[in-house]
This record gives sequence, C-alpha cells and structure tokens, in this order.
Amino acid sequence: MSQPAAIQAKSLIRALHGEIQARPNFWFMRQAGRYLPEYREIRAKAPNFVQLCLTPELATEITLQPLRRFAMDAAILFSDILMVPYGLGVRLEFKEGEGPVLEPVSSAEDIQRLQGTADRFLSNVAPVFETVRRVAKGLPLDTALIGFAGAPWTVACYMIEGRGSRDFTKTRRLALTDPGLFQTLMDLLVDVTSRYLNAQIEAGAEAVQLFDTWAGILPDGEFAKWAIEPVREIVERVQSRHPAVPIIAFPKGAGVHYAEYATLTGVECVGLDAGVPPEWAAKVLQPLSAVQGNLDPLLLVAGGKALEAAALRILNALGRGPFVFNLGHGIVPETPPENVARLAALIRAWHHRQA
Ligand code: CP3
Repeated sequence: MSQPAAIQAKSLIRALHGEIQARPNFWFMRQAGRYLPEYREIRAKAPNFVQLCLTPELATEITLQPLRRFAMDAAILFSDILMVPYGLGVRLEFKEGEGPVLEPVSSAEDIQRLQGTADRFLSNVAPVFETVRRVAKGLPLDTALIGFAGAPWTVACYMIEGRGSRDFTKTRRLALTDPGLFQTLMDLLVDVTSRYLNAQIEAGAEAVQLFDTWAGILPDGEFAKWAIEPVREIVERVQSRHPAVPIIAFPKGAGVHYAEYATLTGVECVGLDAGVPPEWAAKVLQPLSAVQGNLDPLLLVAGGKALEAAALRILNALGRGPFVFNLGHGIVPETPPENVARLAALIRAWHHRQA
C-alpha cells in the first residue's frame, strides 16, 4: 500500500462503498443501550430519555461505551429517531415499560403547525450536532461515526399513532383515506430529515443510516410510494451535498421488495432483517449494493452453538462480497454482554479465504 493511512478512508466507509475488506467490518444496531450496565447507570441519573439524547456530554459517553468493550468498526450516534418529531415541536415522552408517547398528529391544522416550525428544526435539535462533533473527536483512528434518522414512513407511523403499535392502523388508514394530507406530512419529513442528516454529516458523521422499522407493514401496492420514494428523495438531497458519504437504509420486512429498494433508492448499502436468507442476498442483492446484517438479535441472547452457527452462515454467504456484519434488528436489553464479546471475536477470526 502506497497511501498513508491518514488520507485513506476508514475501512467501514470503504466497505459501504462496496470495497471488500480484509475482514468483514461490523457494528450492531442498538449497540449502546440497556444491555450495558454502564448505560443503565447513566440512564438512572438522567431526568428522562429525551434529556439524555439532548445532553452532549452524556450522549457522547454513551456512544463510546460499547466501543471500549467490543471495538466495533463504527460508533452509532446515541440519539433516537423520534428526535425529528421533537425538533418539529411535537411533545415527546418515553414512559417506563410503555415506550414513546407523542402528541398525535391527525388533522391538516396539526400538519400546518409542524410546517410552521420547520425553520426552527435544526436549532431545536442543535445538541445532537454537538454530540456528533464530540464523538468525532473521541473516536479510535479507524472507527467510523454513523449518524442516523428514521425513514419518513416509520417516523410518520409514530407521529400519527402517537405511540408504538403492532400494525399502525391509524397511519395506514390516513395514508389510504387522505393520501394528499399524508403526502404533505411525508414531504415535510423528507425535507427536515434531509437537512438533519446533512447537518450531522457537517458536524462529523462519516456515514448515515435511515431506519425504516415499519416498512414491512406496507402492502405491495403502497411500498414504492411510502417506503422507496421518500428515501430516494432524501438520498438525492444528501448525495448532492455530500457525494462521498455512504448511505445505509434498513427497510425492515421489505421481503421481495429488497432488490428494487436497493436499486431505486440509490443507497450504497441495504440493511437486511433476520428474515432474509443470506445466500439469497449474496446472489440477488450484493450485485446491486453492499449489504449489512442480519443475525437474529435473539440468538445473541441465546448464545452458544446456535449463535456461532448462524453467524458463520452469514459470514460464509456474504463475507466475500460487499458486506458489513450487523444484526437483523437492534440488540435487546436481555443480551448478555459476554455474548456480544464472543460474536465480535468470531467475526474478527473469520477470514474470507477460508471455506
Ligand atoms: O443504535 C444505537 O445504539 C443508537 C441509538 C438508537 C436508539 N434508538 C436508542 C434508544 C437508535 C438508532 C434508535 C432507533 C430507533 N428508535 C428506532 C429504529 C430502530 C428500531 O429499533 O426499530 C425506533 C423505532 C425508535 C423508537 C423507540 N425508541 C422506541 C419504540 C423505544 C422504546 C422501546 C425500547 O427499546 O425501549 C425507544 C427507546 C430507546 N431508544 C432506548 C434507547 C437506548 C431505550 C430507552 C431507555 O433507556 O429507557
């Protein structure tokens, strides 16, 4: 290698751009969080979860905690996808054992009110950018910083429902009965999410991920409109300002739509949920984009031989192509940190020239 390390992009960034790395890079969705005692200790002292996300000193520390234990190839900003509605002036609370509770959005007037706050959005979430700046300064040399946002469909689900749900019927109903009004909300989310990601990048994020946790509840006829199109628009607006910054999108439950999603959104990397067979992804998706995923997070709770076998299957299927190892969804609070350490060791020991 003739290039000095300092001017070469970090390994994770090159992996997301489709370059095959000497060993697969890895990080885990929800790598910072309740399964770590050091997180729970900080969380217990904070007045509430939203304040934790808005306190750069604590959010920086939480972002760095998992790296100290497991030395992942990337840090993911500690924040939440619901900071976008928060920045639009929506009241937001995280209730113990209940999850997020938001002031629900339902009428044209509600959406107009949100449009009126769009100018103040970036200043309302300014502490998030301060966290990004601090983390960027505190990272190990070859560790990349991933910024993120929710994809418009998933964020709209929480905004309209006002809370978590299994099927988000209120949201689905509004999208069907008043698609014009729903589109107005989606357009607003596309606009603020694009500016939000651009601002994270300008503060030091080196890649960004869009979480579309509820993409899989969209029926076939609506997937392109509410899962693909808004993400394609955000990708266009981020890439036009920051063409070298890779974008990952995680459309959980996209199933047979994964291939068109990778092609039509223009993302560098698609995040796979645990339902996607890795051998299929190698054949169909890796020629289209890098892929990230997709170990079942409950195997990380179970540990042992089942964890090892599933991780090796993913590595053997995807590890020789453009790939970043991750889970198929976030780490759950019951996960023993020792199992995360075991998985990290297994990924590091795997080599793409082995059988
Ligand atoms: O990945 C990371 O470590 C970075 C931080 C991060 C959090 N949430 C912290 C968090 C990220 C990237 C998210 C994304 C997020 N938030 C998603 C998309 C991914 C997914 O998991 O589906 C969604 C849907 C949310 C909304 C959200 N935030 C819910 C539904 C809940 C309650 C359920 C739960 O897991 O607690 C949260 C709370 C939340 N976000 C916690 C953390 C660490 C737990 C809050 C606490 O400590 O009490």
